[in-house]
Amino acid sequence: MFENFFFVALPYIAILLLVGGTIVRAFKNHWVWSARGDYLWTTRTTGFFGRQTIGPAALCIHWGLITLFITHLIGFIGGGYNLSSWVEVFRWVGMIGGLMLLYGLLWALYRRIFNLQVKAMSQADDYITLSFLIIIVSFALWQSLVEQLFGISYAAGPWVGSIFTFQPDASLISGAPLVNQLHIIFALLFFCYFPFSKLVHAASYPFSYFTRPRISMRTYWGLKK
Ligand code: HEM
Repeated sequence: MFENFFFVALPYIAILLLVGGTIVRAFKNHWVWSARGDYLWTTRTTGFFGRQTIGPAALCIHWGLITLFITHLIGFIGGGYNLSSWVEVFRWVGMIGGLMLLYGLLWALYRRIFNLQVKAMSQADDYITLSFLIIIVSFALWQSLVEQLFGISYAAGPWVGSIFTFQPDASLISGAPLVNQLHIIFALLFFCYFPFSKLVHAASYPFSYFTRPRISMRTYWGLKK
């Protein structure tokens, strides 16, 4: 029963909330294609304070996440179609993405705790988001670096396929190591949380970037001059 809840019901709840919830927030009360959703659609940037540390944190988090999104896709397709080289790409490139992400997340958490201005402007959402990501990536890196278990994509690929073809089969993934099951469960809970958080900024359409007033960005060394 537990496996049906976590690996059949929860994935559909997560997809519904992630896609539906983000669309509702984007267009609530106004149908404007380039809109940033409701007026709370902001990441409350901390870039004004401690600018020298926001750089490594933001870069590593965003590039780490992009790398992991692409490598998970490659891994699941590889696992689903028995393409071992694809699964290997996931293993090594995903590991680099994971380490980069963890490094950025720890920097970001450090800033929120030890930079007093950043601490003062932080909200529960900031800590919840960071904690979710740290937990998810730590389970994954524990599995691949400490326990040195890999190849679970051969089970996860067909399971993800079963969800998207509406023939969900929890037994495909229920034999995976516990650490990987926890990785997946926390990732699904994170997707459920996504539309209620600042993370919705990922769904911003970049059209207005071309017409909005420019923002001057300078490097740390440029600022020092
Ligand atoms: C429901 C969504 C997700 C599923 C089903 C999933 C599944 C998996 C699986 C099965 C593996 C192990 C692959 C293998 O052994 O062949 C893995 C590894 C990994 N995942 Fe996820 N994952 C999900 C979301 C995420 C998210 C949101 C993150 C980042 C925050 C993430 C980060 C990682 C990392 C860093 C690895 C280790 C890569 C390596 O060291 O080679 N995953 N994931």
